[in-house]
Amino acid sequence: MKKSIEEHAARFDEEADEYDESKSDEYRACANLVIERADPDGSDIVLDLGTGTGAIAIALASDADRVVGRDISEGMMDEAEQKADDRGLENVAFDYGTFREPEYEGDVDVVTSNFAMHHLSDDEKRDAIDVIADLEPNRFVLGDVMFFGEPDPDEPFYSPEVDDPATVGTLADAFTDAGFSLTAVERVHEQVGVLVAERGRVETGDE
Ligand SMILES: C[S@@+](CC[C@H](N)C(=O)[O-])C[C@H]1O[C@@H](n2cnc3c(N)ncnc32)[C@H](O)[C@@H]1O
Repeated sequence: MKKSIEEHAARFDEEADEYDESKSDEYRACANLVIERADPDGSDIVLDLGTGTGAIAIALASDADRVVGRDISEGMMDEAEQKADDRGLENVAFDYGTFREPEYEGDVDVVTSNFAMHHLSDDEKRDAIDVIADLEPNRFVLGDVMFFGEPDPDEPFYSPEVDDPATVGTLADAFTDAGFSLTAVERVHEQVGVLVAERGRVETGDE
């Protein structure tokens, strides 16, 4: 991580009240794909990591049984809570938690994360993916800044001084090493994509 958790939190606290107004078309396309691919049913519990102002968590709340959002920025989560209140949503809750220590115990069916994991180094992303696998969700839908080709620091989707995106290959390896199968790769832009990873029962033929 190029900045500490506290530095990232302070940065997002500062921009929280304007965050929702500053989104690119690629961000919106990515968020929409995460929502579509998460596809919870009415009995599913969803955990949204790096939930920010709740773009994903709030969109999924009406389809899921319950949505739990975790983030390090109280300012971002204040905005998320306000939006949930305004919409009368009672099945979504936000609290402090990091990717590697989500501070969530209990069942989870679907884990989502949009535009947040790129703050971690590749080793930290690998640790986070292991932690997520240990929660035993059926599905993890990751939308983020990620490199489909050669990284180009002149492109607009990340700031090298604070962000640390991975290649799609690095993420794919981390998912499969953690026991997930990568079931979809959606390219939104050369540096933005959505990966769907699933943990299913392996058919052995003996059953
Ligand atoms: C660009 S925002 C994305 C927010 C939201 N997911 C969305 O799609 O709009 C990134 C969020 O990740 C959070 N974040 C950064 N590092 C984190 C970490 N290590 N653990 C949890 N959240 C983190 C930030 O506080 C911020 O709210």
